[in-house]
Amino acid sequence: MGAGAPSPDAVAQGKKILVCVTGGIAAFKVVAVVRSLAETGADVRVVMTPSAHHFVGAQTFAALSGNPVATEMFGSGAAVPHVELARGADLVIVAPATANAVAKMALGFADDLFSAVLLTVRSPVLVAPAMHTEMWEHPATQRNVAALEERGITLIGPSEGALSSGDSGAGRMSEPEEIVRAGLRALGRAEDLAGVRALVTAGGTQEPIDPVRFVGNRSSGRMGFAIAQEAAARGARVTVVAGATSAEPPPGIEVVRVATADEMRAAVLERAPECDVTVKAAAVADFKPREAVDRKLKKASGPPEITLVPTPDILAELGSSPGLRKARGILVGFAAETEPDPGVLGRLAEGKRRSKGADVIVANDVGSSDSGFGAATNRAVIASPDGLTDVGLVTKIALASALMDVVAGLLRTRRSL
Ligand code: C5P
Repeated sequence: MGAGAPSPDAVAQGKKILVCVTGGIAAFKVVAVVRSLAETGADVRVVMTPSAHHFVGAQTFAALSGNPVATEMFGSGAAVPHVELARGADLVIVAPATANAVAKMALGFADDLFSAVLLTVRSPVLVAPAMHTEMWEHPATQRNVAALEERGITLIGPSEGALSSGDSGAGRMSEPEEIVRAGLRALGRAEDLAGVRALVTAGGTQEPIDPVRFVGNRSSGRMGFAIAQEAAARGARVTVVAGATSAEPPPGIEVVRVATADEMRAAVLERAPECDVTVKAAAVADFKPREAVDRKLKKASGPPEITLVPTPDILAELGSSPGLRKARGILVGFAAETEPDPGVLGRLAEGKRRSKGADVIVANDVGSSDSGFGAATNRAVIASPDGLTDVGLVTKIALASALMDVVAGLLRTRRSL
C-alpha cells in the first residue's frame, strides 16, 4: 500500500468497468457516465437489455466506450458471453436500474445476458435505480433493494425530483457525475486493504451453566460478518472468530468457531500478533457462572444459585498490551449502548476508546428495533484519532464500509510515518 491515497482518476486506469443499461428513460444520462469513465482510461464495456434499445442506440455507447455493445446471450460468437464479460471485471455499474432489473438481481435470475452477467460477477456492483415513485416505494421493490444492500451491493440514489411522467418525487436516477464519483470511489476502495491481514470477532459468547444451559445474548453476528465481507471485498485476508450466530457467515472467509469468552480470548490472542487490523465486533458476555456443573441441573432440586464472575475483557487486554498486537496495527472495538442520540453516542464512543486503549470505537444503539442486535440496520457513531464520524442509521454493510474507510485511512497514515 502506498503512502497517500491514489488520485480518483488514476485508480480507473486500465480497469475493466461493465456498465449495464436497462430499459428506462434515464438511459440517456448514462451516455455521459460512459464517456466520463472512458476518459479516465478505464476499459469500459456496455451491456444493454433489449428494452434499453428503445431509449439509446447501441451505436452511441459503442462509439463512446470504444468497445462493441453486448445485448444477446446467444449469437454473439462468444461461447459463454456472460462469463467472458463478468470475469475480470473490476466494477459493474447498473444504470439506470429499473424496478424489473432490481427484482431480477435480488432473485438471482439468469434469463438474459444482463441478469446472467450480474449473477456471475464477483466485483463490486453499484446500482443506480430509476423508476416512478410508486414503483420505488412499493414494498416489493423496497424488499429487493434491501436484499441487494445486504449482499454488499451499493445503491446510488435514487434522488427526488422531476420524473419522466411529468410529476416529481423519489425515483429519479442520480446525476452522471455522482455515479462516476461513486464508481471511482468503489474502485479505490476495492484495493485499499490489499495485503492487509484482518481479524474480526462476531456473534455472542455462551457461558455454560450446565451441559444444556448457558448465559448468552441476542447477538446475531450480522455486524461482524458485514465487516468481514467488506474488508475482504477491499482486498484484506480475513479470519472471523465467531461465537453463537444466527446469520450466515459470508462465503469464502475463514471462520473459527468458539463458544465461550475464554475460547474467544485464546483464538484472538493466537492470531492478533499477525493482524494489521483487529475488530472486536462480538458481544462477549461480561460475566460467566463461576463453575459449570457437568450434569444437568434438576428442576426438582429447586432454583439454583448461580454466582457470576467477570470474563476476560479481550479488547481491554489487547488495548493495554501492545506486545500482544502487531506493531502499528489498528484495534477496533464496539460499544453497545441503549442510546439513539448521536451526540451522546459520540461521547460514549470516545470515552470507551480511551478507557479500552483502542484506536477506534464504534458506538451503536442497541435499544431500538431498527438498530443493534439482530437488525439489518444500525445507528452508529465512530470515534477515531481523527475525530467523530456520525454514520446515522444505515445498513450494517454500509456501516462496515464507513468503518473500513476510517481503518484504511489510519493504516495509510501509520504506514507513511
Ligand atoms: O465493555 P464493553 O463490553 O461495553 O465493551 C465492548 C467491546 O469490548 C466490544 O468490542 C467487545 O467485543 C469487547 N469485549 C471484549 N471482552 C469482553 C467484553 C467486551 O473483548 N469480555
